[in-house]
Amino acid sequence: MTGGVAGHYAEAMRVIIVETAADVAKIAAERIAQAVRERRAAGAAAVLGVATGSSPLGTYSELARMVQAGQLDMSGVGAFALDEYVGIEASHPESYHAVIHRTVTEPLGLDPTLVRVPDGLAADLDLACRAYERAIVDAGGVDLQLLGIGANGHIGFNEPTSSLASRTRPKTLAPQTRDDNARFFDSPDQVPVHCVTQGIGTILDAKHLLLVATGAAKAEAVAAMIEGPLSSMCPASALQLHPRAAVVIDRQAAQQLTLTEYYEHIERHPLSGARGA
Ligand code: GLP
Repeated sequence: MTGGVAGHYAEAMRVIIVETAADVAKIAAERIAQAVRERRAAGAAAVLGVATGSSPLGTYSELARMVQAGQLDMSGVGAFALDEYVGIEASHPESYHAVIHRTVTEPLGLDPTLVRVPDGLAADLDLACRAYERAIVDAGGVDLQLLGIGANGHIGFNEPTSSLASRTRPKTLAPQTRDDNARFFDSPDQVPVHCVTQGIGTILDAKHLLLVATGAAKAEAVAAMIEGPLSSMCPASALQLHPRAAVVIDRQAAQQLTLTEYYEHIERHPLSGARGA
């Protein structure tokens, strides 16, 4: 293993607990920046996996700040979004095409032709999902996938009971997810019923995973993800299978964890130092 982002992982889920949402954003942005710089040093532009939702917004702002300050070069960097609603036009302000453009592509100065979002309007959704999988492979795979977590433990739109081996496909949203996302629409019945989402197997193919969560409303899902059994009832528990996954959470999101002292102990005594990696 080399240094940098890769060197910080120890074949286990790394749990980084910080005090505030602002700290989460700073640490997550720094890890993404490091992944971009490492790829650049290897002569290539990184491919990022990007997420919607409120959780990663602070991280995107922090990255945008770095770009503006000349601390981070995002030229040539590509991005693949996790998911999209079925049946709403890309021009709808709450389509994930629009959200990713507004919160990622523009502020980070990415080339829009290198930013892909699944097609929720395709006449043949299965075909479009297969094409999306192929596009990820053709781009060389995702170097770092940024994730949020739903209150029901979903990642992307992989709702509870999603196959842990699933690939990009159409899905039916859980009622709780529709309720959670109703705040973005004029009325709850405008929230689409269906979506397309990268599968859990697709997400696990990314070279690094980085999940951010803040606030007490996520505490139960966060505990199930990190300390619960590997189960499709908590799709995010699939991160336990990934050799290079990091979870960055604030104190409130960490409040239902039982091994907090251990995670903090691990952070104070990094294995990479012991191995000289
Ligand atoms: C959304 C997205 C997920 C996101 C999650 C949590 O519906 N599909 O990718 O992680 O729900 O959203 P938030 O961060 O706003 O709590």
